[in-house]
Amino acid sequence: MNKNIILIGFMGSGKSLTSLCLAEHLGKRCVSTDVLVEQREGKKIADIFQDSGEDYFRQLEHEVIQEISKKTDVVVDCGGGVVLNPVNMVLLKKSGIVIYLLTSPEMVHERTKREEQRPLLNVENPLERINELLEKRKPFYEQANYVVDTDHKTVEIVAKEIMELLNL
Ligand code: S3P
Repeated sequence: MNKNIILIGFMGSGKSLTSLCLAEHLGKRCVSTDVLVEQREGKKIADIFQDSGEDYFRQLEHEVIQEISKKTDVVVDCGGGVVLNPVNMVLLKKSGIVIYLLTSPEMVHERTKREEQRPLLNVENPLERINELLEKRKPFYEQANYVVDTDHKTVEIVAKEIMELLNL
């Protein structure tokens, strides 16, 4: 299969670890939109948000998606907000199979609460913010080709489910 395998979903849904696991099993390369944005700017995402704002970050993220969507045969780990730009979704769906890693707000909170590198969740009540953002983004995530529930599953199990789904 030459099509890319593209993982989308909310922060803390396990996209990064699952894409690495998938890439290893399938002998493919893995690319991350967040890593490419950070490399391009020479800064951490939290610093890009702080210095230049979210809109600037989204523009960089869009440019990275444009580049990635020209590649073939890679596993793509997308930042949680890529779905906010409808053009990103069109490009990603053209370049491969898009899989939504579905995760409950409580599980997202559990997985992200000890980390500080996600500027959108650095607020007084992160669970409330997670619920708000998830509600807004749900219709966009649901445009994926497939949905895989990740709650209470290990990365290895989620990767296996994706391979079964795609007959790989
Ligand atoms: C974001 C998710 C982050 C990162 C940035 C914004 C979002 O990526 O792109 O902090 O808007 O959901 P992860 O989903 O990999 O944490």
